[in-house]
Amino acid sequence: MIKIAPSILSADFAHLADEVKRVQDAGADYIHIDVMDGTYVPNITLGSPVVKSLRKSSDAVFDVHLMVEHPETQIEAFAEAGADIITFHVEAAKHSHRIVQQIKAAGCKAGIALNPGTSLAMIEELLQDLDMVLIMTVNPGFGGQKFIESQLDKIHMLRHTIQDMGFECDIEVDGGINEETSLLVRQAGANVLVAGSAIYGAEDVAEAIKKIRG
Ligand code: DX5
Ligand code: ZN
Repeated sequence: MIKIAPSILSADFAHLADEVKRVQDAGADYIHIDVMDGTYVPNITLGSPVVKSLRKSSDAVFDVHLMVEHPETQIEAFAEAGADIITFHVEAAKHSHRIVQQIKAAGCKAGIALNPGTSLAMIEELLQDLDMVLIMTVNPGFGGQKFIESQLDKIHMLRHTIQDMGFECDIEVDGGINEETSLLVRQAGANVLVAGSAIYGAEDVAEAIKKIRG
């Protein structure tokens, strides 16, 4: 089952609640919320108060992608604000195993993100505890970048490992996903697809979601 997670990074920030509703009505499975701190990545986007406000008007699954240094300082705030899934970057974490447990203790599903230059070996020991692995198919920080094809092998290898070990773990991909690249990542084994510009930039959002789902 393929899930589609539109990234609100490409939405109109002045009308976020409407923008969330718009993609949910069009068939989105998750709402992907990109949190950037201006240090781990150059931009600053939004914090837990925004998620808390959005939660008041939406029952959607909130898929929070933390692109922040010291992710352990943010978990409880986002969980209390209404996050359902919290994903942090392994490159930003000193004690990744502990942070996974912290996310679960806060009542959320736990994910770890890997940048294009980061090997799967970094998370091998954590796979049994993870609900999701996020393979970045661009370098994090901006919407609208070009898909990095070399990540397809990584997705493929991860799918095999998860299957061989019998783990229940989703593979999410994020960056440069559109109608064409979605086919490649689905074939490689990804089952949660994030798309920002390809969905919010589309004239017909429902059609875009349908095409990306395949
Ligand atoms: C990039 C973000 C992505 C971004 C994807 O750092 O994590 O979620 O919004 O945007 P597109 O789909 O336009 O590449
Ligand atoms: Zn993201």
